This record gives sequence, structure tokens and C-alpha cells, in this order.
Amino acid sequence: MSHIHGRFHKAADKLAAEYTTSIPFDWRLYPYDIAGSIAHAKMLAKQGIISTKEAEIITEGLASIREEIERGKFQFKPELEDVHMNIEARLIEKVGEVGGKLHTARSRNDQVALDLRLLAKEAISKTLIKLRELQQALISLAEANKGVVIPGYTHLQPAQPVLLAHHLLAYFEMLQRDSDRFSNCLQRTDVMPLGSGALAGVTYNVDREFLARELGFSQISQNSIDAVSDRDFVIEYEASASLCMMHLSRLAEEIILWSSAEFNFIELDEAYATGSSIMPQKKNPDVAELVRGKTGRVYGNLMALLTTMKALPLSYNRDMQEDKEGFFDTIDTLLSTLEVFAGLVKTLRVKTENAGQAVRRGYILATDLADYLVKKGEPFRTAHNIVGGLVSYAMEKGKSLSELSLTEYKEFSPLFGEEVYSITIESSIAARDNTGGTAPKQVERALAIAKKIVREKTG
Ligand code: ARG
Repeated sequence: MSHIHGRFHKAADKLAAEYTTSIPFDWRLYPYDIAGSIAHAKMLAKQGIISTKEAEIITEGLASIREEIERGKFQFKPELEDVHMNIEARLIEKVGEVGGKLHTARSRNDQVALDLRLLAKEAISKTLIKLRELQQALISLAEANKGVVIPGYTHLQPAQPVLLAHHLLAYFEMLQRDSDRFSNCLQRTDVMPLGSGALAGVTYNVDREFLARELGFSQISQNSIDAVSDRDFVIEYEASASLCMMHLSRLAEEIILWSSAEFNFIELDEAYATGSSIMPQKKNPDVAELVRGKTGRVYGNLMALLTTMKALPLSYNRDMQEDKEGFFDTIDTLLSTLEVFAGLVKTLRVKTENAGQAVRRGYILATDLADYLVKKGEPFRTAHNIVGGLVSYAMEKGKSLSELSLTEYKEFSPLFGEEVYSITIESSIAARDNTGGTAPKQVERALAIAKKIVREKTG
């Protein structure tokens, strides 16, 4: 702080002041800081710690400061260190000495914990909504392309045919787990820390339950030292965000692959693609690439905070001010990623024909042929060998499996009969008719369940 006060005889070194200030980023806490302070002032009055009149003056002052900030009329001063001191100083400036009573029975340590928790709760709610919207977009795309078959891959080699809808619903599942994780992390975020003071509690008769109710928390913290030291909720959000971004990066990668000339399964809407400054023919999947790319930053924020918190002695340490930039960045990145990605998914066009051709290329029905032999009594391992030989033979002849004659089939196993020709892409898909399988009936069911989940979340 630049002004001389309390035990200090000189102002902070200019560079030191600049180094320690958090106002360039923590100004974002202002709505939560003000809401927390209003609730605190009310509580102080209710408990007879300050008068009702004083609480009113403070509350009105805080409300007008909020307005000043919202109208861009508030001047944040870096020399006042952080958002908490900026608001308090302005309050005193506006309402006079009585403003100085607001910080009774409180410390910036429990205050910043409160502000961050309020912000985190709101971020989680927004995240859950955006997750649901992306799930909705996946459902719509799946429904609009119900009959479309694509090659399913393992090792990025064509493996077995699957319904595109089935593949898309895999992402629905991932996002569902992400939702569960964020909802779960909300429980530990929803804890009211005020009343912890600097670290040991406060010497006034505060009503912490009242504060929790006023501020919409379902619980109060149970240990003052933990309450001012704990940033688990920030780490949990960042960890959940990292997992979620990892999921999105996989979908982004598939979209990039699928929109390449080599796969050519989809076409991105022009609103979600960009041209090249030099190569006129290009339509680049930049949005998807940035989803993939931003995942790195989100992981980085998680690692940074885990490292900051590592081996920190209890209770509050100034190191913890470093929690904010990464947290805000992760929230902004995740929310914008979910939103832009939903738009991209909703508008992309599936090239059914090309996907169908890709499915017919390769020997994607080999497993089905092996299964056919097994059903005729061949042990699976031998059947696997027989079909392996058959595939290698067909490749040499430059034929697809369906182009082989029955005589050729029979050279590999006498168990082969006319029915091999009824093994088709459609029969292959329809045969995988167990829960979680790609048979149209199963996918239809999965879609219905997915729609119900999204509907319930909306309701
Ligand atoms: N700006 C600080 C932070 O973000 C607020 C808490 C400061 N507490 C303190 N005792 N200096 O962590």
C-alpha cells in the first residue's frame, strides 16, 4: 500500500507495490465482494455489533459502489492492492467513518475465500448449462443422421462399422460424467467461510448461519484455519475442467480428421471454418484446432495451482493470490469452448455417401465372418486365423470379401455356406444388439435416455 498507515512508517517500494497488487485481475470479484459485504453488514446489525442505521448507510454505500463499477465510473487503484481494499476505501470516502465499521469481525482472508466461492458457484452453474447445451447439440446431430454408418476405429484403423449416432453418443456419456463431476464439486464449494476471520475465528457474536442463508450457501465451514487455507474447490473446478477439455479435444480432433480431404465425412459450416491467407482452396477447422489447443492452457492452470498450494503451511499465505488468474482463465476458456463447440456441432453437415463408401472399403466385416464360423462350431481363435488368411488372400486378389466366390471361401473352411453373403454392414450393426451396442434398436434407446437426461436437467 502506498499510503503510510498503522505500524508502517514508509510507503511500499513502487515495484514491490506493483508486484503485489491483484487489482488488474481480482476486480472481477466485485459483485461477490459487495454481496458478501452487504450480508456481513446486515449480520453485524442483527447481532447488535453495529447499529441498524449504520448497516443501512453501509449497505446503500455498497450498492452505489456496485453501480459505479457497472457504469464504468469506478476507478480501481492499484496502490490499494486488491478489490477488497478498493471497495472499502471508496465506501469510507462515500459514507465517512462509519464505513470503517464494515470490516469488523472479518478479515480479507475469509473475505476472499467467500468471494471466490461465490464466483465458483456461479461458474459451476453456468458450466452445467453449457454442458447440457453441447449434449443437446450432439443429440440433434445424432438424430438428424440416425441411419448414417461410419467405420468405427481402433488404432485409427477401420475396425467395425458403427452408427454415427452411436459414436456421437459416446461424447454424450463423457459430458454426462463431466456434469456429474461439476455437480459434485459444487457440494464442496457451497460452504460459507465468513466468521473464520484471519484464521482463528472472531471475537464477536456473529451469526454464521444467517450469513449462509443470506448468501445462498447450504453449509458453513467447520474449521476456521481450513476455511482460509482451502482452495480445493478451485482445484476441483480446474481438474474437472481439464477432464472436460480433454474430452472436447478428442471430439475436436475427430472433427479435424473427418473434415480433412482424406476422411471427408463431414463439412463444417462456413461460420465455423476459416480460409487461408495464401491458399484459396482451403477451409480450415480453426475452431476445432483451438479447442484442441486451449486444452493445454487449461491443464497448465491446474498444474500451476496444484504447485502453488503444494507444501504451503497453514493458514493463509499470499501465494494463494496466484489462484485467481488461472481460475478465471479456465472458467472463461471452458465456457466459451462449450458454447462455440455446440454451434459448430449443430451446424456441421454429414457427408453420408462418403462415410458409407469408407465403411465399404477395407475388410471391416472380418470380425462378423469370424463370428459366423464360431456360430457354426469353430472355436473363436481358429476362426480368427481362418478369416485372417481369407483377408490376406482377398487383398492379394484385389477383391473385397463379398467378391469372393463360395468355392474360394470353402478353401479356407468347409463351414462357409451361402449365408456368408448375407453378412452385410447392416447385419453387422444390427447384430450388436446388447446394451451399449451399436444396433439401431440400442442406439434408439440410448438416444431416448439421453434426451430424457437433458430434459430433466432443463426442467
Ligand atoms: N488479494 C488477496 C488474495 O487474493 C486477498 C487476501 C489478502 N490477505 C492478506 N492478508 N494480505 O489472496
